[in-house]
Amino acid sequence: MKRVLTYGTYDLLHYGHIRLLKRAKALGDYLIVAISTDEFNAGKGKKAYHNYETRKEMLEAVRYVDLVIPEESWEQKINDVLTYKVDVVVMGGDWRGSDRFEYLKDYCEVVYLDRTEGVSTTQIKKELNLQEPPGIPD
Ligand code: CTP
Repeated sequence: MKRVLTYGTYDLLHYGHIRLLKRAKALGDYLIVAISTDEFNAGKGKKAYHNYETRKEMLEAVRYVDLVIPEESWEQKINDVLTYKVDVVVMGGDWRGSDRFEYLKDYCEVVYLDRTEGVSTTQIKKELNLQEPPGIPD
């Protein structure tokens, strides 16, 4: 049984997320997704549209995902790898070479997968904000 672990916020689930999860699952047999808690996001000055429980519920409904766990700190990763007997940590290509993940190579394989072009939660939020409510005719 090869276990794969990945991290993220996964707010406003979109096809870039789904493709990342599909490719991550294909690297093993069991996919664990650690999603940032609302408190962890607040500490980073970020606020997800959907709260932790809702994001978890949606990810649990994705066929590639076997387990969703909370990401509560930057430091928990070694502990996660050991606790869940993880073989591969997968991250999006935007993290390639980052100190936040490279040190995990002492504990497991670390794989970076290229992001899907043209979609992100930030972009979706930005574009939806551009839509004005229908105007009242003069
Ligand atoms: N991801 C991806 N392709 C995209 C968007 C995200 O492969 N177009 C991957 C990220 O690299 C990460 C995972 O999906 O491994 C979760 O990313 P997350 O940061 O939650 O999503 P984003 O859409 O990047 O959100 P934001 O715009 O808030 O950074």
